[in-house]
Amino acid sequence: MDVPSVYALDIRGKRVLVREDLNAPVQDGRVTSDARLLAALPTIELLKKQGAARILLASHLGRPAKGDTPATAPQFSLAPVAARLGELLGEQVDLVDMESATAMQAGTIGLLENVRFQPGETDNDPALAEKLGGLCDVFVMDAFATAHRAHASTAGVIDVAEVACAGPLLLRELETLSELLEAPARPLVAVIGGAKISTKLGVLDRLAQLTDTLVVGGAIATTFLAAKGLNVGKSLIEASMLDEAERLLASSRMLLPVDVVVAREVRAGARTKTIPVEDIGEHDRVVDIGPNSRAQLRGAMNVVGTILWNGPLGVFEIDRFAAGTLHFARSVARSPAFSLAGGGDTLAAIDKAGVAKSISYISTGGGALLEFVEGRELPAIASLRARAR
Ligand code: 3PG
Repeated sequence: MDVPSVYALDIRGKRVLVREDLNAPVQDGRVTSDARLLAALPTIELLKKQGAARILLASHLGRPAKGDTPATAPQFSLAPVAARLGELLGEQVDLVDMESATAMQAGTIGLLENVRFQPGETDNDPALAEKLGGLCDVFVMDAFATAHRAHASTAGVIDVAEVACAGPLLLRELETLSELLEAPARPLVAVIGGAKISTKLGVLDRLAQLTDTLVVGGAIATTFLAAKGLNVGKSLIEASMLDEAERLLASSRMLLPVDVVVAREVRAGARTKTIPVEDIGEHDRVVDIGPNSRAQLRGAMNVVGTILWNGPLGVFEIDRFAAGTLHFARSVARSPAFSLAGGGDTLAAIDKAGVAKSISYISTGGGALLEFVEGRELPAIASLRARAR
């Protein structure tokens, strides 16, 4: 990997600033998924073992508006994350601001309050990057899930810190994904679900070339069904993307649902029908894939070498519409193939199916994962590469 690595540095006695992605879901002041926190633990443990003088963590949480502060928008405070991280680590993690960060005691761990409260973070303001760089002797970029943002704490600081390097989590994500894209065990199947083709067009284009089979689900699949000329009733589709969908259908080996679950309304308790895709009625909305589509996918997952999965296959948040996505998660878990899954909704579905331990690799990235697969250079990685030169 052509980026400077934390493993090649002598950290002993150094003040370390680590950018993690601790953008975890928080409800009523409590973290509701530990996944991103757990992913950061080995990095913190490594830096402790390497003898860092003190460890200051930085992350964003959500998308506070310009001018928001922890006092005016407490829902974006990292306080619940600091508390939960402390529980998981078994030692105190202090929530600090830019000022108190400079006065941290040796041997302590601090978490800087949400960097997006800092004016200039999302504009990659050089003045903020300098300030962040001044907080440390070594800057460790470990937030793969935010590596696609050119922000002060993800890219700008890399250019100005005394020493900057990639952390263990970022290195592992880059290695695993590069290997999957460059030399996958074949056949390679990608499964892309979700709501909009437009947000995933780049990745669908790349995957159409790379994969042996491209499976689409969710509203993306419905748009492809419409592009094939089928009636999709009142289903959510992207009408402006029908030409692109037709082009992709012609240029890839795509597996589309053969039957679907439809409802008149997308709400818990709505009456559902399971029908072949050819029979979707005028008032129907597609909310899930049907049993024949599930069986088709189950069979396909048994004879593949690599599975890449991002995006649910239906409206899985509503229990009645979740069977397709949950069955699929179990099929991936049972498959002998190497499986890689990423994205907030996908991980929530995997958790709901209770199969997280049986997925070969769970990426912390959502948007970053898609951009990487698409072949775009992520700004944080570009900055690290420049430091390596
Ligand atoms: C994510 O959850 O995908 C990352 O934390 C990035 O968040 P953002 O889309 O708000 O930049």
